[in-house]
Amino acid sequence: MTANVIDWPTAELHVHLEGTMEVELLVELARRNGVVLPTYDPDVLRESYAFADLQEFLDRLYANLGVLRTEQDFHDLASAYLRRAHRASVRRAEMFFDPQTHLGNGIPFEAVIGGLASALDEARRDLGMSIALIPCLLRERGADAAMDMLDVILPFREHFVGLGMVSTEVGHPPHLFAEVYARAASAGLHLVAHAGEEGPPEYVREAVDVLHVERVDHGNRSMEDPDLVRRLAELRMPLTVCPLSNVALGTAPRELSRHPLPAMMAAGLVVTVNSDDPAYFGGYIDDNYRAIASALPLDAEALATLARNSFTASFAEPREKDTWI
Ligand code: ADE
Ligand code: ZN
Repeated sequence: MTANVIDWPTAELHVHLEGTMEVELLVELARRNGVVLPTYDPDVLRESYAFADLQEFLDRLYANLGVLRTEQDFHDLASAYLRRAHRASVRRAEMFFDPQTHLGNGIPFEAVIGGLASALDEARRDLGMSIALIPCLLRERGADAAMDMLDVILPFREHFVGLGMVSTEVGHPPHLFAEVYARAASAGLHLVAHAGEEGPPEYVREAVDVLHVERVDHGNRSMEDPDLVRRLAELRMPLTVCPLSNVALGTAPRELSRHPLPAMMAAGLVVTVNSDDPAYFGGYIDDNYRAIASALPLDAEALATLARNSFTASFAEPREKDTWI
């Protein structure tokens, strides 16, 4: 059963472009752009990826992103992910990226979106993939900064399909961003938010009730609140779960065999499987599927349900979805 799991077509709905930068590409870009790294040995870099929690990971992620300087860099990063995702039978990829990080590093948004758009066009043409971009606000920078980001990115509206919310969760509840999300909704964007990864179930409620998200990214901690679980199940609210990420960051038990995914499915939640930041957490979406198929009590039908959920929960056009489901 596990051998052909990776042959099953899926959609990847929760992957951060910035978290797909493999150590080899990190070193290549550092050399290309004359950026100093603590070491240029990919193995040493890889071995140093061990994280006590979300913040420790984020600090490392943002430090590494200083190597991204030019339109070509953004193209190469997106292109590498898309080629790898294609090998994992990903038919549809909805990719997060963090405009504020790159603007803060002095990179014009035109360079970011230009590099991404050309990589996406090539993957559509050469690999036949369906792909969309979802820019994300960094919640610790607050709502005013998020509004400033919308000022910068909305003139490029045709390049993306939604708005997301990422980064340090605890202490930055979703309701603070109600106006930002209302503005994104009136621009016709789909709405998603990271909630209940490290933050409490209340943040998931706020994402749903105040921000009106269409998917919850992670949402693991919803399981602490049976009423919330019932509501999410009734709403058929998709949760984009990232098993290897949860283990790597300790946002679920550190043993994958104790991950709540089977319990989430048994509770009627619409769960999808995703890689989050595959260059940091030990694998791409196929690695995630393989890992859960061997560590968790999921039969072929459950795995097929996860893959099907990924298509139904995607923001692809209904006609396109029909070709996958
Ligand atoms: N940015 C990249 N990966 C993230 C995660 N797992 N949670 C919050 N922000 C992120
Ligand atoms: Zn994420």
